[in-house]
Amino acid sequence: MSGPRISVVGTGLYVPDRLVTNEDLAKVLDTSDEWIRTRTGIKQRYFAEPGTGAAPLGAEAGRRALAAAKVAPEDIDLVLCATMTPDYIIPSCAALIQRDLKLENAGGFDLMAACSGWVFGTVTAAQFLAAGTARHVLLVGAEQMTSVIDPEDRGTRVIFGDGAAAAVIRASRDDEPGQLLHSKMRLAGNDELLYIPAGGSRQPSIDAASIERRDHYVKMKGREIFRFAVTRFGELIEDALQGAGVTVDDIKLVIPHQVNLRIIESAVDRVGLSMDRVLLNIDRYGNTSGASVGIALHEAADSGRIERGDLVLMVAFGAGLSWGSALLRW
Ligand code: UT7
Repeated sequence: MSGPRISVVGTGLYVPDRLVTNEDLAKVLDTSDEWIRTRTGIKQRYFAEPGTGAAPLGAEAGRRALAAAKVAPEDIDLVLCATMTPDYIIPSCAALIQRDLKLENAGGFDLMAACSGWVFGTVTAAQFLAAGTARHVLLVGAEQMTSVIDPEDRGTRVIFGDGAAAAVIRASRDDEPGQLLHSKMRLAGNDELLYIPAGGSRQPSIDAASIERRDHYVKMKGREIFRFAVTRFGELIEDALQGAGVTVDDIKLVIPHQVNLRIIESAVDRVGLSMDRVLLNIDRYGNTSGASVGIALHEAADSGRIERGDLVLMVAFGAGLSWGSALLRW
């Protein structure tokens, strides 16, 4: 089969210490554990202290991935950070992670694809490795979602969590099975269903009026996003199977963006996959956007749910609107 021959040689995960349960949120918002669990599948999530930033979370995940991969910091030549909550507009999170991890020989940049960030990042890393312009890529997904979520909006506050994941990826050696068998990245530009009005070049200054409108926080039309996600998720899985010429039975594990248990269940049902071949951890982390698929991938690898040679299908969907997939032979 064609496709860049790449191997993930080490992964890492880091979440902040503060664990927030549904009951904790129900004390400060008009919501309940029952509503959150039945509508989303979430039981808890982690919140970083205000002012932490995404880069320190990503750097810690990166440190763990480097240790797991037994790759020295100076051997990383590209650091990619998938994030929608960068510490600053400039410099990039990638630059801060480069500094923190002393990646002396690395270039890098941030990749803004919201919840599709980890999947788009994997596809991007593979291109650099296939072209030979990078030998070791450190892919990081890092988010402090609490920095952009309105603490008073129950529709979004209960869904998102903070956290980071990282992976060291390099070209596969001759005796290694690793390969990106199929990938897809798509956009359908939309700044109405899921966006943050202020803080960018359209509305750069956050003044009293914009704070009053709460324009510095995520605005989300949840129900519309839900419908779009269900359709796209199903299509992504079907496309990947067709594109790589494999059947649903060949897939060892589907690792979906941890968006909403109901969205995942209906997409998986549509393609005839059983839930025991889907990695779910939304109950413990909530939706960590660009870090979500990476966190799940780390847990799959770390727990032995995927082994070398297995087919692993990552699928994600998010703001942009964006959606994509990466089918890996592990
Ligand atoms: O990574 C992409 C990010 N986007 C997403 O993950 C969003 C995908 N969408 C969803 O996951 C779901 O649409 C939500 C979980 C956001 C909402 O679930 P839903 O079943 O679509 O609920 P809804 O928006 O249709 O709202 C139903 C009711 C409303 O009350 P009324 O108008 O029927 O009286 C909401 O006000 O539920 C209310 N509601 C809540 N109630 C208790 C909304 N949020 C909450 C809440 N607790 N946290």
